[in-house]
Amino acid sequence: MKIGILKEMAPLERRVAATPETVKKFIALGAEVAVESGAGLGASIADADYAAAGASVGDRAATLGGAGILLGVQGPELETLTGAAPGAWIVAGLNPYQERARIDAYAAAGYEALAMEFMPRITRAQSMDILSSQSNLSGYKSVLDAAAEYGRAFPMMMTAAGTISAARVFIMGVGVAGLQAIATARRLGAQVSATDVRSATKEQIQSLGAKPIFVENVAGIEGEGTGGYATEMSPEYQKAQAELVSAHIAKQDIVITTALIPGKAAPRLITDAQIQTMKPGSVIVDLAVEQGGNVEGAVAGEVVERHGVKIVGHRNVPSRLAADTSALFSRNLYNFLSAFWDKEAGAPVLDAEIGDAVRLTKDGKVVNERLLPQPAATA
Ligand code: NAI
Repeated sequence: MKIGILKEMAPLERRVAATPETVKKFIALGAEVAVESGAGLGASIADADYAAAGASVGDRAATLGGAGILLGVQGPELETLTGAAPGAWIVAGLNPYQERARIDAYAAAGYEALAMEFMPRITRAQSMDILSSQSNLSGYKSVLDAAAEYGRAFPMMMTAAGTISAARVFIMGVGVAGLQAIATARRLGAQVSATDVRSATKEQIQSLGAKPIFVENVAGIEGEGTGGYATEMSPEYQKAQAELVSAHIAKQDIVITTALIPGKAAPRLITDAQIQTMKPGSVIVDLAVEQGGNVEGAVAGEVVERHGVKIVGHRNVPSRLAADTSALFSRNLYNFLSAFWDKEAGAPVLDAEIGDAVRLTKDGKVVNERLLPQPAATA
């Protein structure tokens, strides 16, 4: 089995889908690995490092030719796959909902596309979960990005010239990114509070030494849907949440929002009117900006100022820590393929629980149930 490692072509994408470490491990499984020249540069990995690990390094055509599996961070454009074998697997973060046309094109071209972000959230797949590994570092980076824009210090400092008070940091959405943001802000000495719609997060917030801010006594408060993900909340809940958050936000220096709902636009958590109540010099980081944004006025790829408050909307935050995020992403891919490696076949053979969850296309068709029309609800 030949595994091809593609150089990412999307703007701002510095990550790579394999490291010398995972190349060696794939070779130990019996695979042959071809790396596209320059693939690792954004993550500080030279072609020579891949070659030393045992990979062949060449141009795109040499990487694609005869490969049964192509690994990427993002889904490659169809036009860049000329020369790839029909039936080849494309294994990457394929962004299936937003890049639906590209998925259809993979199907039509006969590729088998496997979307790593559809990995089921089950214990044995934790080490294969790119959403977790990348969100974790995004959460960390969001706090550093906030600190860089903030014209004050985070910790309380007692100096001969007087005392500086600790920054107040509020984290909205306490999934993987939010938990890491809490821990990072705490390590920097901030006074941290956090909220989520999933009540299970309350204890997690407390155990990290932050203060939970939660809507109480409203119907439908649970907020947890399938796979540990959030559901969309009732209008009553949203109203109660807005009131609670309004009062709290006015006292904050930094707000970091991370709220997502799978397959839907990100929920709006902060309005322009609420931003107006914040102190000038405050900073908001919207980690959901590329999914529609949690913050009114946030602009993807920009740091904008509204009412004296900076709103940070960096795109592709994981790529801003490309060396570490690439290492984790690459291990996720290796953990996935190696868990199913069939020695006799010399290739991975997926089981139904994970295979059917991540497989988007096969035999010329889109086959994933999350992308097929949903059956009409029965009365
Ligand atoms: P996510 O990235 O989908 O969403 C981020 C957070 O925003 C979530 O905590 C969500 O509840 C919250 N949120 C959504 N709407 C909101 C609103 N209106 N207001 C405030 N918060 C809102 O979530 P992520 O990070 O993917 O984690 C979701 C869950 O999955 C967590 O419980 C996590 O521990 C679990 N998980 C399980 C794994 C496994 O078992 N393999 C792997 C990774 C995560």
